[in-house]
Amino acid sequence: MNPIKHVAIIMDGNGRWGEKNKKSRNLGHKEGLKTVELAMKECIKNKIKFLTLYAFSTENWKRPLSERKYLFSLLETYLRDKLETLNKEQIKIKIFGKLNFSKKLNKLLNYAEKKTKNNKKLQVNLALNYGSKSEIVSAIKKIGKKKTINIYNIEKNLYSRNIPDPEILIRTGNTHRLSNFMLWQIAYTEIFFEKKLWPDFKSVDFNKILKKFKKIKRNFGDI
Ligand code: FPP
Repeated sequence: MNPIKHVAIIMDGNGRWGEKNKKSRNLGHKEGLKTVELAMKECIKNKIKFLTLYAFSTENWKRPLSERKYLFSLLETYLRDKLETLNKEQIKIKIFGKLNFSKKLNKLLNYAEKKTKNNKKLQVNLALNYGSKSEIVSAIKKIGKKKTINIYNIEKNLYSRNIPDPEILIRTGNTHRLSNFMLWQIAYTEIFFEKKLWPDFKSVDFNKILKKFKKIKRNFGDI
C-alpha cells in the first residue's frame, strides 16, 4: 500500500462558485475557507503529516485590489480567530512564499509560524505570494558560487526543505494546469484533477482520491 505523507492542493474555483451562488467572487473565497478546514480535518483523520495549500500565487497580484484586499482580510481574520484552536489541535503553520503583505499581516504570519512551530500532528504549508519558478531560482542563488549546484543542494534551499515531496496533488475547478505550483516537488506526484469547484469539494471527494491513490502502482521510472 502507498503511504501518504504529503498532500498538495490547488484550491481552484472559488470565484466561479461565488459568481454562481452569491453573485460575488469574494463570497466564493469565504466559502472556500470552509473546505480548507475540512481538508485539514481529513488529513489529521488519515494521519497525513503535511498539507500544502496554494492560497495566493505571485501571479494573483494581477487581480483587482478589492479581491486581493478581501483575500488578505479573510486570512487575517481566520488566523486571529482560529490560531489558538489550530495550536490546540497540534497544527503547525508554515508559509511558503515571500512575506510582502501589509506590516500587520506579515507580523501575524510570522507569529503564527512561531507560535505553532513545535506542533507535530499536521504541518499546513500556506503557499502565499508563492511561485515555483522564483522559488527554484532563489534556491540556486542561495547555493551561491562556493557550493555545487546539484539536486540535494537545490532541495535544501526550497521552502519544502526537510519535508517529503507530495504523493498527491489535487486541483479542483475542472482546470488541467499546474499554475506555477511546486513544479520541482511534484516530479513524481500523482495528480488528480477534480471537476468540482473548491467550495463544493467535500470529505467524501477527498477520501475517494486517497482510495484511488492507494491502488496506484508507483514505479518512479522502474518497471
Ligand atoms: C483560486 O480560485 C483560489 C484562490 C486564488 C484563493 C484561495 C483562497 C482560499 C480558499 C481562502 C484562503 C484562506 C486561507 C486561510 C488559506 P479562483 O478565485 O481562481 O477561482 P476561479 O477559477 O473560479 O476564478
